[in-house]
Amino acid sequence: MTSLPKASVRDTAGFLLDVFIPTAAKGPLLRRPRAEALAERLKLDERAVRRMQELDRKYPEGPLLLRLPVRNQALILRPGHLHAVLTQSPDPFSPASSEKRGALAHFEPRNVLASTRAERTVRRALHEQALDTSSPVHRFADTLLPVVREEADAMLAAAQAKGVLDWDVFSRCWQRGVRRIAFGDSARDDQELTKMLTRLRKDANWSVLKPRRRGVRDEFLRRVQERIDTAEPGSLASVMGSRPEPDAAAPQDQVPQWLFALETSGMAAIRALALLATHPNQALLASEEITNDSTGGRHLPFLRATVLESVRLWPTTPMILRQTTREVSWDTGTMPAKCGVLIFVPFFHRNHQRLPQADRFDPALWLRDDDQEDWGVVPFSAGPVSCPGRQLTLLLTSTLLSCLLKDTAFTFQDGHRLSPGRPMPGELNPYTLRFTPTVRAGV
Ligand code: HEM
Repeated sequence: MTSLPKASVRDTAGFLLDVFIPTAAKGPLLRRPRAEALAERLKLDERAVRRMQELDRKYPEGPLLLRLPVRNQALILRPGHLHAVLTQSPDPFSPASSEKRGALAHFEPRNVLASTRAERTVRRALHEQALDTSSPVHRFADTLLPVVREEADAMLAAAQAKGVLDWDVFSRCWQRGVRRIAFGDSARDDQELTKMLTRLRKDANWSVLKPRRRGVRDEFLRRVQERIDTAEPGSLASVMGSRPEPDAAAPQDQVPQWLFALETSGMAAIRALALLATHPNQALLASEEITNDSTGGRHLPFLRATVLESVRLWPTTPMILRQTTREVSWDTGTMPAKCGVLIFVPFFHRNHQRLPQADRFDPALWLRDDDQEDWGVVPFSAGPVSCPGRQLTLLLTSTLLSCLLKDTAFTFQDGHRLSPGRPMPGELNPYTLRFTPTVRAGV
C-alpha cells in the first residue's frame, strides 16, 4: 500500500505559519476584528495563497500529507481532488471532523455539521425543508422580503443621521432582520439571544482548548426552543413547529447555525456594497437591474452575482474540513482512516493559472454558462453537504443591496483600496468599512 506524497518538515511548517495559523487566528466561528485588521495590514491572505501555490508547484501529484507528529492531515491541491472530496461527502469524507465537533459542542452540539449517519440525514432534511434549499426564491419570500426592506430603510435612516454607513449601523439593523427572518417580528429586539450566541461562539473559536460553559449553552438552547415554539407563520423556524417528541432532528441545535450564518451573509453583503461603490461600470449594471426590476427583489441575477463575487474574493468559510471515515484510495496512494482533509478555499478562488480574472471583481463569471466549480470556485461548497442556505442568502442579500442602492449612492471612504485597476486585496475587513450615503438628486 503506497502512502500519499508527504510534505517535507519545512513545507509543513511553512503551511502552518503562512496558511493555517493566520486563517484560524481570524476566528473560525466568530471573527476577531483585531486579527482581521492585522491580516489586512500585513497582507497575510495574499501570503497564504502564495504559499499554497508554492506547495502546488512542488507537489503536483495532489493530496499532500503534512508531516505532523500527532495526526494525519491531508491538503487538497487540485480542483479534481476537491470535487472528489466534496461529492463523496459525508462518506468517506465526513464533515463532522474532530475539531468541528469540538467547536460546535459549545453552542449546538447536535448540529448537522457535527452529525453522522441517520442523524445527519434527518437533520440535513430539516434544514433543506426550512431553507427551501432547491428554490432560488424561498416559498416564504412574501414575509421575508418585507423584513429586509424595512431593515434596509432603518439602515438608510440611521446612516443618514450618523453621516456614515459603517459596520455598527449595518450590523445593528441586519441582526434585527436576522432574528425576524428566523422567528418572526416578536424576536426583533431579542438582543440577549444574539449576545448569548456571540459569547458561546467566542469560546467555540478555541474548540476543545476551552472548557464548555454548559450552563450558558443550556440556557441559550432553551431560549432558542422557546422562540421555535412561538415562531410566527412565514418565519424560517415556523417550519419546525409541532414536530414529534423526542425529535432526532434536534431543531434547537439547528437554528443557531442560521443565526450565525445569516450574520455572515451580512458580511458578504457589505463587502458586495464596497465592490459596487468602487466599480462604476458594474454599479451602472446594478442600477439598471434595480430600476427595471418587476419581481419585488426576487430575481436580481446581477446583484446575486455580485454577492457571489464577494464570497469568491473573500470567502466567509476559508477552510472546508473533512475527516475520512475509512481508508481512501487515490491514484497517487492511500489516505488513511481518520485523516483530516483540508480545502483552503482562497487558493482555488484566487488562482490566476486556472482563473485569469482571479483578482478582479467580475460578476460576469457567474452569469456565464460554463461551470465555475471546474476551477474549484466553491464559496458555498458543493455536493451533498454543500450549504443549504445558498439560495436564501442570495435572495436576502440581493434584495438588501437593491433597497440600499435604489435611491442612494454610497461613497466608499477608503475607495483606493478597491480600485478597478488594481488586484482586489486578499482581505477586506468588514468591521472597518465606511460609506458616505448621498440621496440621489430628484428623489
Ligand atoms: C455568505 C453566506 C454563506 C456562505 C458563504 C455559506 C457557506 C457555507 C459552507 C462553505 C458550508 C460548509 C459546507 C461543507 O462543509 O461542505 C456551509 C454549511 C452550512 N450552511 Fe452555509 N453559508 C452561508 C449562509 C448560510 C445561511 C444563511 C444558512 C441558513 C440560514 C446556512 C446554513 C448552513 C448549514 C445548515 C450548513 C451545514 C450543511 C451540512 O452540514 O449539511 N448557510 N455553508
